Amino acid sequence: MTEPIPTVTLAATPPMGWNSWNMFGDRVTEADVRETADTLARLGLRELGYEYVVIDDCWSVKDGRDPDGNLVPNPLKFPAGIAALAEHVHSLGLKLGIYSDAADRTCAGYAGSHEFEEQDAALWASWGVDFLKYDYCNAPTDQPTAMDRYARMGRALRGTGREILYSMCEWGGRHPHLWGADVGAQMWRVTGDVFDSWVNVWMPTWGTYGIGVDVSLDAAATLAPYGGPGRWNDLDMLVVGLRGKGQIHGTGMSQVEYQTHMSLWVMACSPLMIGCDLRAMDRDTAALLMNPEVLAVNQDVLGIPARRVRVQGRCETWAKPLADGSVAVALINRDSTGQDMQLRAGDIGLLDTRKLVRDLWAQQDTADFGWGMALRVEPHETRLLRVTP
Ligand code: GLA
Repeated sequence: MTEPIPTVTLAATPPMGWNSWNMFGDRVTEADVRETADTLARLGLRELGYEYVVIDDCWSVKDGRDPDGNLVPNPLKFPAGIAALAEHVHSLGLKLGIYSDAADRTCAGYAGSHEFEEQDAALWASWGVDFLKYDYCNAPTDQPTAMDRYARMGRALRGTGREILYSMCEWGGRHPHLWGADVGAQMWRVTGDVFDSWVNVWMPTWGTYGIGVDVSLDAAATLAPYGGPGRWNDLDMLVVGLRGKGQIHGTGMSQVEYQTHMSLWVMACSPLMIGCDLRAMDRDTAALLMNPEVLAVNQDVLGIPARRVRVQGRCETWAKPLADGSVAVALINRDSTGQDMQLRAGDIGLLDTRKLVRDLWAQQDTADFGWGMALRVEPHETRLLRVTP
């Protein structure tokens, strides 16, 4: 008898939620996380699929471990402890995530989990943790070591018997899309940190660039063939709504640029981890994070990341087949002048027969067309469409 093909249960569609880093950095507290979970439930984000509430770096006591070698939550930031927080988050029907690093120190210099994999995984499981983001600062840069260190934690998480989503963060340098699933991960970062900025920002202290949304487009295009159910290319946490006020660098973007950012993450099947302070969310931010028709494209059960099917100068057409036979299309203008772009049936794999076009950001049917139609796309704007044959 042949083995049945296992069904993907964990991360069958791209994970959605919130992560503390972009807004709070090392100042994150229990109150922030608890109130964010309350807000996800109160504002209806939970019903839209935002499920994981993830505490990033800096949650533990900086200098490490108790006499038994266990990680210790910082009592000033998390006075009730992580287990109590998990209980609250679970009571709302949400899930809790935590962070560590595959070396002895995290990126911000807190205790990491290298050589404590099983002990830490068991501790997190006993607290009720549902998600681990596992970073790669202070670890050897070669690929075999990275594979080994991520595999160790993958085994340790599985060994707990608890279902814990495993999110790798080695920034793409060692081609995690080729081996992440083999070490038990469901998602892996494909770039360095995305800043609250359209263009890349040079960081002298890092000796590297912070990634701007314009450049994320190229990373997403290259890696599209490697994403799918249970194995997602992670374009990094969302910067929507930060408006230059987060602790992540960057001076903010225009509403149109944030819309392009959200459109790309949606089309690329990237996990959607909100990074702004939801307690103070404004209407424009809510419009980008809470559009059900847009989110449905990201969460479509086929889980096929969009391909870049046409490039003309700085204008791009991306297409993503959806389960009902329709095609999600992004017309993206990376240029600094407005353009009339062509939507062509042939580019998106459809015939010249009549098709219905729905503008997903406007949530309106716009027109029907046969061979092609022209659409105005403003500088840095993305028109997101659903085309139904
Ligand atoms: C790295 C990661 C970020 C964040 C910080 C925390 O830079 O890429 O997403 O987790 O570490 O220190």
